Amino acid sequence: MAPLGRPIETPVPLAAGRVGLRLIRSTDAERLRRLLSENRAWLQRWEATHPYGRGAVPGSSPMRPTIRVMRRQLRAGSGVPFVIIYDDEVVGQLSVSEVSGGALQSAQIGYWVSEHVAGRGITPAAVALAIDYLFAELRLHRVEICIRPENTASLRVVEKLRMRYEGRRSAYIHIDGDWRDHDCYAVTREEVAAGMLQRLLDAGDEGRERLTG
Ligand SMILES: CC(C)(COP(=O)(O)OP(=O)(O)OC[C@H]1O[C@@H](n2cnc3c(N)ncnc32)[C@H](O)[C@@H]1OP(=O)(O)O)[C@@H](O)C(=O)NCCC(=O)NCCS
Repeated sequence: MAPLGRPIETPVPLAAGRVGLRLIRSTDAERLRRLLSENRAWLQRWEATHPYGRGAVPGSSPMRPTIRVMRRQLRAGSGVPFVIIYDDEVVGQLSVSEVSGGALQSAQIGYWVSEHVAGRGITPAAVALAIDYLFAELRLHRVEICIRPENTASLRVVEKLRMRYEGRRSAYIHIDGDWRDHDCYAVTREEVAAGMLQRLLDAGDEGRERLTG
């Protein structure tokens, strides 16, 4: 049974200035494989790994089969695999996972961008777009982002979005070969009545300049 009691409909592409989000598609396979391969040193420390050793090194094999599996999450209603776009080019991924229905109505977000576009405010804008979509289209109530305490760049993303710190979960996710503590941040729909993108734009320099730059 799908967590929300239904499949998730294909999201329309979302955009804010030069930043966009759209559903991943099979034609993204080679571009993503190349980005993942070229960004090994940049990404590895923050990547989820399987505790029992399964799974190939990201970027080491063709991505079409993985993308097919990701897209099945929509039909299963369990997640939404987006790519992040900047100036019409795919530069990273944003994944909605852990979708829960019933009395929770929540989801988690994870993300990465290629090192060559880091520091332009792309991820805060992409996360804001995703959160507004999850609240408005999927009618979720709560979105959560969990980050390793060492990941100062990612912590800046949730700071810019003024997400609420909820606490540390010990040995929460298997990352880069071991169980790692995570600091968890959340936002509920009623906390952002005007929307997350608006909140980011209202933050002035933190959002608007770099978004439209
Ligand atoms: C975390 C991440 C997604 C942030 O994306 P982004 O689009 O660069 O976000 P921002 O532009 O808002 O930058 C956030 C912070 O990154 C740091 N940063 C900026 N450019 C950087 C660079 N070239 N190298 C390292 N860190 C950089 C800065 O601290 C910046 O904060 P600031 O704007 O106050 O200076 C990106 O750094 C990344 O993909 N990292 C590797 C994967 C990862 O950590 N994923 C998240 C797991 S929870």
